[in-house]
Formats: sequence, structure tokens, C-alpha cells
Amino acid sequence: MQLITSILEMQQLADKVRNSGNKIGVVPTMGYLHEGHISLIRIAKQNSDFVVTTIFVNPTQFAPNEDFEKYPRDLNRDLAICRAEDVDVVFAPDTSAMYNSDFLTFVNVEKITSILEGKFRPTHFRGVTTVVAKLFNITKPHIAIFGQKDAQQAIVIKKMVKDLNFDINILIGPTIRETDGLAMSSRNVYLNNDERRKATVLYQSLKFAESEIIKGQTNIDTIKSVMEKMILEKQIFTIDYISFNDAETLEEIKIADLNKSILISLAVRTGKVRLIDNIVVKR
Ligand code: PAF
Repeated sequence: MQLITSILEMQQLADKVRNSGNKIGVVPTMGYLHEGHISLIRIAKQNSDFVVTTIFVNPTQFAPNEDFEKYPRDLNRDLAICRAEDVDVVFAPDTSAMYNSDFLTFVNVEKITSILEGKFRPTHFRGVTTVVAKLFNITKPHIAIFGQKDAQQAIVIKKMVKDLNFDINILIGPTIRETDGLAMSSRNVYLNNDERRKATVLYQSLKFAESEIIKGQTNIDTIKSVMEKMILEKQIFTIDYISFNDAETLEEIKIADLNKSILISLAVRTGKVRLIDNIVVKR
């Protein structure tokens, strides 16, 4: 496995791999890898010949009041995981290499980035799409794999790829959960024991909503108010949102109709930690 930090070196290697007829799969990450990332790497391995994992904590997707500085980082541990997973290249550039002091260009997907996460993190997706577009131009993949855990991010990236004609196939890997249901996330290390134990209510509330819809409940407000009660009962969470949206267009749903797949998503805060999770109820 090779560790590359230079953009030019990565581009030259990607050209070489492509010219030899091999298919490149990229797994973009911000590092501090866990089972969720490993599952994405395994999807990349199954669907390509040459796997690149990128590790870059992207400053442009964090607002000034967010956790960029304290975001967990451990490159040596990440490298060991990637080596064990037989990744071909880890691309881990410095911030200064990715963003020159004269950097002026941003990629912005409109409309679907101003709802849900975008309402609470208004500059977040502009940073995500900008860095992902850059990583695509640097690693030159045929396929790229993202996690369903960040459902809106996956939809936004697919839209960017379609609208800007990137010749890249986007694959979405399922959310990987702890045995008690908590969605794996690098940010889970911020949780204290009490928060960690109580955070299981998030998935429980999503499963409750799913079972209500499957049973035939169509009134979203009724389902939402039970979910809110379940979460607030734990007495440590504030809720940013609980939302029901069309799983493809992100259009808000008020009446459940299983002719369409429904994305049920939520974001909560406890202490300084913000957690997100989602589930898709399929037709
Ligand atoms: O999902 C993430 O870890 C990040 O948002 C991504 C896609 C690597 C862009 O920085």
C-alpha cells in the first residue's frame, strides 16, 4: 500500500492505472476509520481493481463554530486499517495542498442543500461538494463509494455528478451499526457513557416510525410526535429535526404513501455532540 500526499503524484498514478485498463474505486473519508468505512472499502474492492481511500479533514465543510479543530484524527491507525483491508493507495494531502491561499472556486448544489442538514449547517454541503469534486479530479475514479449514514450528502453528491457530468458511478453502502443499533460515526467518540447509552433511542425511534408506516399509519405528524417524545424522554437531547422526505428527491412528505421510498432522518444534539441518523422505508 502506498501513502500519497502530493496531488500531482496521485494524478499521475491514477492516469497510469487507468491507462493500464484498470478500474479505480475511491472511498472519500475524513479518517478516524471505523467499521462503516471498512464496509465502503470492501464495496470498492468488490467493484474495482484499484482502491484509493482518501483521508482529509476538509475545513470548508465545517462552520467556524463547529468541531474542525477537535475532529478525531489518527493517521497511523487509519493506515494500519487500510493496509489490513488491502487498499492500494491512501491519499492524505495537507490542507495547504488542497486549498492554496488564492483558492476561489466552490461547487454548490442548490435547493436540496438548504433543507435538513443544510438548514442547520448552511455552508456544509458547499464544502462537501467542493472537496469531493476536487478529490474526483485528483484520484480520477471510475466508481466512488459513500455511506447511507449521510443520506443527504449521498443525494447531493449524486446530483452534482449528474449535473456536472462526472463520468463516475456513485455507489452507496448501508449504514453500519453497533450491536445496540447506534449508527457508527467517527464522532461517537465524543459521547460520554450516559450519552452513548441513551443514543440508542435514535435508531429505536426510526424503527418505530418504519413499523408504523408499514402497519399503514399515514399521518406523519402523529408518528413524528411519538418519535419526539421517545427522544426527549431521555432528557439529554435537543432535536434539530425529524423529517420524512422522498428518498430520491428529498421532497418533504406529510402523508406516508408507500408508492415512494421514504427517507426518515433526524439530527439531535447532546452536550457539544450532534448526531444524525436515518432509515429508508422502501416501497
Ligand atoms: O462523509 C465524509 O466523511 C465527508 O463529508 C467527505 C465525503 C469525505 C467529504 O469531506
